[in-house]
Amino acid sequence: MAGELSPIDKAKFVAAKRAADMVEDGMRVGLGTGSTAAWLVRCLGEMVREDGLKIKGVPTSTRTAELAREVGIEVISLDEARWLDITIDGADEFDGDLNLIKGGGGALLQEKIVATASDQMVVIADVGKEVETLGAFPLPVEVIPFGWQTTKALIEETLISMDVLGRQTSLRMNGEVPFMTDEGNHIIDLHLSRIGNARQLAMVLNQMPGVVENGLFIDICDVVVVGYGDGRVELR
Ligand code: 5RP
Repeated sequence: MAGELSPIDKAKFVAAKRAADMVEDGMRVGLGTGSTAAWLVRCLGEMVREDGLKIKGVPTSTRTAELAREVGIEVISLDEARWLDITIDGADEFDGDLNLIKGGGGALLQEKIVATASDQMVVIADVGKEVETLGAFPLPVEVIPFGWQTTKALIEETLISMDVLGRQTSLRMNGEVPFMTDEGNHIIDLHLSRIGNARQLAMVLNQMPGVVENGLFIDICDVVVVGYGDGRVELR
């Protein structure tokens, strides 16, 4: 399935493969979004088709739902599953406390809901995602379209009052039009460089009217499976 891969894709693939081995018969599995999570879905699909693995998958985006069905995984909604045994997803950054930035693919809202409804969240990532301090990757904040410019201004004012280093914000675009999430919302990316107190920032952002969710995953991830370009895998 993996064929000849570039080092980065190999790192993603081996992390996904290792995490797929944590999935057991009968499990309800949260399926993440992104290129690393897509490897996971393909690995699980192969296990379903060739080894008879029986699982039910809860996808975190329409993209992942389509891929899961395509590879033969039974897809159910979170409301049908109610609670999940494990969620496996990618990340844009993770730190030494296993806190994350997610949402580079714009699916952070469903990803956070699904991960929070799971006994265990396993992150799969190439080693390049490991950071000492979160924030070099722009922090995605999902906002409702109504009054998004006002919400953006409020976020900027708050960043100033919190003395956060970088304060630039940008509306994520899809070509000429604003990017739309699966829930019909927009994303404002915060270019912060370095997030001092991620827990506090996550709480403050979510208290603002207009903000639906932010991409900081604090105390949600249980283990990170780190893949290397030479095929090694480590657990954090
Ligand atoms: C999507 C996400 C992804 O998990 C994150 O962007 C990592 O993606 P990739 O595996 O393609 O690097 O949070 O919303």
